[in-house]
Amino acid sequence: MLIQIKNLTKTYQRLEGAINAVDNLSLDIPRGEFVTITGTSGSGKTTLLLILGGLLQPTTGSLIYNGKEINLHNDNDLATFRSKHVGFVMQSFALIPYLTATENIMIALNVKNKNKHENKKRAIELLEWVGLADRTTHYPKELSAGQQQRVAIARALANNPDLLLADEPTGNLDPGLSEEILTILKEINQKQSTTVVMVTHSPVAAEYGTLRIKLNNGILIN
Ligand SMILES: Nc1ncnc2c1ncn2[C@@H]1O[C@H](COP(=O)(O)OP(=O)(O)OP(=O)(O)O)[C@@H](O)[C@H]1O
Ligand SMILES: [Mg+2]
Repeated sequence: MLIQIKNLTKTYQRLEGAINAVDNLSLDIPRGEFVTITGTSGSGKTTLLLILGGLLQPTTGSLIYNGKEINLHNDNDLATFRSKHVGFVMQSFALIPYLTATENIMIALNVKNKNKHENKKRAIELLEWVGLADRTTHYPKELSAGQQQRVAIARALANNPDLLLADEPTGNLDPGLSEEILTILKEINQKQSTTVVMVTHSPVAAEYGTLRIKLNNGILIN
């Protein structure tokens, strides 16, 4: 089992009262699955994804990754977990506008390896992998939305994560481009045996899931 989460709860405290965005949720994710998470707006999908990726601390509950418990309340532990294992793709691409496609990927690599020449080579390889061999020196604004999302995927893959998390990666794309991105995610899942967890509103995108889960008020439903 790649991920085991047990009795996970995230409570947000607000003046109006407290809400459990994720409510005592337990789930096992076997290695190599393409997991899709659907559910109405506000059902806790993003909250769950952020906790899975070590970006948000839950209120209570545990996460066992590859047999090892991650201390979800220790910032250092979480940072190590993220940098070793996790890649993120967001709906809004989150590329840096004044860096080229290659440079956007290189900043993710620089954290680990200071060798600029090697990093550049690897960044270009990643861009080739997502079909952007001829766009390496383009800036984000010179790329289409689908191409920008492919750069974001290449960046997420920079450190060879075994877990790729995507929050509505096709939310800003038309159906044709969405299919392109979903095909790339499927390829990453199948060829590199990367476990993918994707939040989506689209029933078409959810069809890509080998394990499909649905949330309602922070609880798993069938
Ligand atoms: N930082 C926060 N502070 C307080 N409440 C929050 C915070 N983040 C999320 N919430 C609340 O937690 C619940 C779950 O939010 P979440 O963003 O996980 O939903 P979601 O399923 O991703 O929704 P969407 O489909 O709209 O993206 C919502 O009711 C939301 O208002
Ligand atoms: Mg969300």
